[in-house]
Amino acid sequence: MSEEALPFGEKYYPSLEEYKNLYARSVEDIESFWDERARELVWIKHWDQVLDESQPPFYRWFKGGVTNINLNALDRWIGTPYENKVAYHWEGEPGDRRTITYSELYREVNRFAWALREIVGVKPGDTVTIYLPMIPELPISMLAVTRIGGIHSVVFSGFSAWALADRILDARAKVLITADGFYRRGRVVELKKEADTALRIVAEKGFKVEKVVVVRRAGVDISWSEGINMWYHDLVKEAPEKAYVKPEPRKSDDVLFILYTSGTTGKPKGIMHSVGGYMTYVYNVFKWNWDPKPEDVFWTAADIGWITGHTYIVYGPLMHGETQIMYEGAPDYPKPDRIWAMIEKYGVTVFYTSPTLLRLLRKYGDNWVESHDLSSLRLLGTVGEPINPEVWRWYYTKVGGGKAPIVDTWWQTETGAAMISPAPGLALVPLKPGSATLPLPGIVADVLTADGRPAKPGEKGLLVVRRPWPGMLMGIWGDPDRYVKTYWSRFSRPEEGVWIYYPADYALRDEDGYFWLLGRADEVINVAGHRIGTIELEDAILAHPAVSEAAVVGGPDPVKGEVPVAFVVLREGYEPTPKLEEEVREVVRRLVGPIAVPSRIIFVEKLPKTRSGKIMRRIMIALLKGGEIGDTSTLEDPSAVEAVKKALAQS
Ligand code: WT7
Repeated sequence: MSEEALPFGEKYYPSLEEYKNLYARSVEDIESFWDERARELVWIKHWDQVLDESQPPFYRWFKGGVTNINLNALDRWIGTPYENKVAYHWEGEPGDRRTITYSELYREVNRFAWALREIVGVKPGDTVTIYLPMIPELPISMLAVTRIGGIHSVVFSGFSAWALADRILDARAKVLITADGFYRRGRVVELKKEADTALRIVAEKGFKVEKVVVVRRAGVDISWSEGINMWYHDLVKEAPEKAYVKPEPRKSDDVLFILYTSGTTGKPKGIMHSVGGYMTYVYNVFKWNWDPKPEDVFWTAADIGWITGHTYIVYGPLMHGETQIMYEGAPDYPKPDRIWAMIEKYGVTVFYTSPTLLRLLRKYGDNWVESHDLSSLRLLGTVGEPINPEVWRWYYTKVGGGKAPIVDTWWQTETGAAMISPAPGLALVPLKPGSATLPLPGIVADVLTADGRPAKPGEKGLLVVRRPWPGMLMGIWGDPDRYVKTYWSRFSRPEEGVWIYYPADYALRDEDGYFWLLGRADEVINVAGHRIGTIELEDAILAHPAVSEAAVVGGPDPVKGEVPVAFVVLREGYEPTPKLEEEVREVVRRLVGPIAVPSRIIFVEKLPKTRSGKIMRRIMIALLKGGEIGDTSTLEDPSAVEAVKKALAQS
């Protein structure tokens, strides 16, 4: 290893000044920087070209490289002392436990991979939709699918049958992996029922999923279609006990997985991540974020159904041989100290979660956290939304005991891993509560004003990224135009060869160069750290026969940050009633899922619109939050503002 490579691997930089130097060197020549970083991993064949920029914005990383992420997440630990290390301490909501070592994980992944290939018939390049709760079979399935060269599309188990059906159809999934049910707040959620409904919906649309693998978790009765349904445990039993499936060689720019996220239209976007780029980026960022140690007990309290879990519960920690906690259920069940009790019980050293969860747990009062010994914690993290400085201080003092730095990580489903965040694995920069601090090495972030000029220090603008990075999305599944339009059209100047990534977040940079993230700049709201497209909810509400128009906006909420608030105009002949209100909620629950149900339904006579008929959501946001309405010169009918005011006053 060259001298130059050392600072990113082994040396600890204690000061902001030194970190800034190290950062400056990383972005001087990003290709040689990432070339070095990728060499720390196992490849079947090294690349011919670090970054292929010949077809922007379709950047391709490590062109010519061949690998399989299993080689780095799993196989590399076999035959080493890590073999007997715990990979997951899993706890079910009812308190049942499973401990899985790296060698056990390896065995199980190999057996399931064998069964998927030999019995279920999954071939390289096939898409497998995984609709599983937080049980060990979820990471096992992901690894088994990628091991045989398949592409996984994990759908959060809190989504409804309709949302699942959309995602199965869009991905043309050949196989679905699901479970009979799981535990949530002491009750069984019957997941297989949802999956069955989804399969009926896709069948009506002329699509057929070939096989459905079912994990038995809750032991509830399920309906069974012979020849299509298969038990997970039967499949694994069929596999030879010492089954070894050679990790399928994958091109660096093959698709590793698809993960759907909400956008500004009703149709969710299938974000595609690459085999080699995602692997390289996640491996390095994990190291910078958490400074992993062999004795760590690492816990990301999130769901694998979101990108946070893909990166920080599955691939990142496994590539570093971390021992992790994985938990099935609700964070405040059976009592508000479930999380604190588990941190104490397992001696968790690094804890990473969302501000939403922290606000919820803080609301219960300090007794719950104070009654546990959390002194094992050495690092804390947050993700998903800006953290309020009061919550930051509470987290720092009450949870971290004033000794665990808080790693506030800004990133997105599209970016693969953190982009702007402290990097204690390299240097601990001074923290500022509420700021995600500085861009990570190799990341060229900037803030522009609406007209594309660099914002001055302290001036609010829009966050952009000026150079590609290995963790970036490859595109949107089946929709290259939407990829270009959504992420690369706001500020890019293709005729000059300038391509600028646009994440749709407001931000400012202060005098010290620190980034402050200020929320979404598009019609997407952030509910409890999850992105939800308002148009998706409006489409769902419009499915109710009584509704003629709907506008959904984010309203403030002390715990969840934002919650969907729906303004609904009824058709002629319908009257607002509590029953109708419940029906509107139900239609959202059915078509999207429980997380998306509006907290308020406000029946209104008309909606404020522009003369061209576009709903002016910002007026409703202002009225909800009590702020300035702003410019109303484009408003078609000023009495609509009064109508909204009146409806709000009455609701
Ligand atoms: C959006 C991405 C990345 C995994 C979780 C969410 C917001 C994310 C932060 C942060 C302020 C944040 C942004 C971003 N966001 N992290 N540390 N501070 N805002 O993933 O669903 O893809 O949402 O979440 O608005 O664009 P996602």
